[in-house]
Amino acid sequence: MASAFGKLILLGEHAVVHGCPALVAGLQRGATASATADEGQRLQLGDRSCHRGDGSDLGQAYDSLLTSMGRSGISVEVSPELPLGVGLGGSAAISVAIARALLELDASPPEEPRTAQDSQQVFEASMAWERIFHGDPSGVDSAAATFGGCLRYVRGESPESVKNAVPLVIAVAVAGPAAETKTMVEQVAKLKSQSPDKFQKTLEAIHALVDNAQLALQAGDLSGLGQLLNYNQMLLAGWLLSTPEIEHAVALARDAGALGAKLTGAGGGGCVLALAGDRADAIMNSWKNEGLECFLSKVPASIGATTPGGISA
Ligand code: PMV
Repeated sequence: MASAFGKLILLGEHAVVHGCPALVAGLQRGATASATADEGQRLQLGDRSCHRGDGSDLGQAYDSLLTSMGRSGISVEVSPELPLGVGLGGSAAISVAIARALLELDASPPEEPRTAQDSQQVFEASMAWERIFHGDPSGVDSAAATFGGCLRYVRGESPESVKNAVPLVIAVAVAGPAAETKTMVEQVAKLKSQSPDKFQKTLEAIHALVDNAQLALQAGDLSGLGQLLNYNQMLLAGWLLSTPEIEHAVALARDAGALGAKLTGAGGGGCVLALAGDRADAIMNSWKNEGLECFLSKVPASIGATTPGGISA
């Protein structure tokens, strides 16, 4: 059984499309998949199914992924473990789990260690899948789904593993129905073409926030990190990515004692995250009292590597 991680963008969403770094934390769940040799070339995804290239988006994405890996005559069954389309990287996790299931099919023994070359192949297959749904993705979701942990990701570069000195407790709420990532990315691109100088200033500000957040993570300075999340939320709201529902969920979290809170992912709806510190129960209760779907994710303190596997996007 192959698996992959979901992700939370801690800081830098959207800016990452325009060359800024983003900081990402892997979720402990994402998707699992298993593959079998089968000329039917069927993809079973939870209760949805399609066939390779059957004209549906899903069928097209499956075709792109198989083509990217040079495979055919394979059926795959996937169990998604995250809600889709709310900015948790569920789609990238599915594609990475499928790509790994294809590699496992040839591997002997099936669970042999993953090489950097495997990771590069998996990442490219995931990007081929993501392009069907997201147009021109930065690759941040695919990198996070491939590697997990905390990452600094710059489009076109190998992701860098970021060593967080202390564990992170992150509360996540679905603040409303998600907008399409593609639409939100286009909306931001429009702002860039309308006022390039102003846009550039915001990009530079986000870049500085991300650099400082990386230092805060490495130093274990959670209250500093929380403040940086709050600043990033302000700048994202300036790009019209926030909504009243997001602002409400963010305010509830901060009032309940979160160290910082912001939208995560494409915005326009979808999820918010809150750096919980020791206030996780209060934040979760406050969201639950308002009927919000929410969960907690923990990122253990990391030890070791500085580069996760050397992929290049
Ligand atoms: O699809 P989401 O909600 O995880 O957002 C992806 C992050 C963006 O920066 C908005 C787009 C991208 O390709 O990086």
